[in-house]
Amino acid sequence: MKQELKNIKKTYKMSGRADEYVEVLKEINLTINQGDFVSVIGRSGCGKTTLLKIMGLLTTPSEGEIIINGVQVKELWKDELADLRRKKMGFVFQDYFLLDQLTALDNIILPGLLDKMNGDAAQNRALELADYLEINEKLLKKYPRELSGGEKQRMAIARALFNDPEFILADEPTGNLDDQSKRNVEGIFKKMHDTMNKSILLVTHDIDFAKLSETCYRIKNGLLILD
Ligand SMILES: Nc1ncnc2c1ncn2[C@@H]1O[C@H](COP(=O)(O)OP(=O)(O)O)[C@@H](O)[C@H]1O
Ligand SMILES: [Mg+2]
Repeated sequence: MKQELKNIKKTYKMSGRADEYVEVLKEINLTINQGDFVSVIGRSGCGKTTLLKIMGLLTTPSEGEIIINGVQVKELWKDELADLRRKKMGFVFQDYFLLDQLTALDNIILPGLLDKMNGDAAQNRALELADYLEINEKLLKKYPRELSGGEKQRMAIARALFNDPEFILADEPTGNLDDQSKRNVEGIFKKMHDTMNKSILLVTHDIDFAKLSETCYRIKNGLLILD
């Protein structure tokens, strides 16, 4: 898929103050083609997560256009947007967002369960992903509280890949990890790019991780600059 952001602005209302606004993103132009690996770095609070949420259709920009495969996103219905997100995009967050009451396996196959996928097919898909991500099958029976941070993040990546999305959007995926798990997750991102031709938007403040991407941007004063 090809996704374009054109003249995107995002303004937030300051809480408690009726008429004060902060302009977090001022004039963002960014195109991600299928297979591109783009990273975005910048200080805490500069708008990285905001940009990722706009690309991921999780929040609407205050101004500007989002175009996916030539289609204006603002002309789509809510359920069409949800479909696009569910089928074409996979999200990975710093805090994993695994469901504590479900085993690792059930967390991974959750997108399939929501699509009423056959149980055996879902399990096979999870095993295929476990193999790809070098997750020991025994770990699949465990609950999130029984897993290390690195293991939890690999489960979250498996869940993000479950529907075979074209586009992976990751917000500080190594933000909570120790060095070894960090390197492991970095390796997975490189592999997803190299062997699966995923498009990747990586938001991170880890410059070494960002260097694995093909194009690295920095957000500064609401603008996107090539780093
Ligand atoms: N929903 C919101 N309402 C008001 N302000 C927000 C909201 N979300 C983020 N902000 C503000 O926008 C700025 C950018 O936030 P964010 O995109 O999360 O930055 P980053 O991910 O780079 O740390 C911050 O100053 C933050 O406080
Ligand atoms: Mg953030």
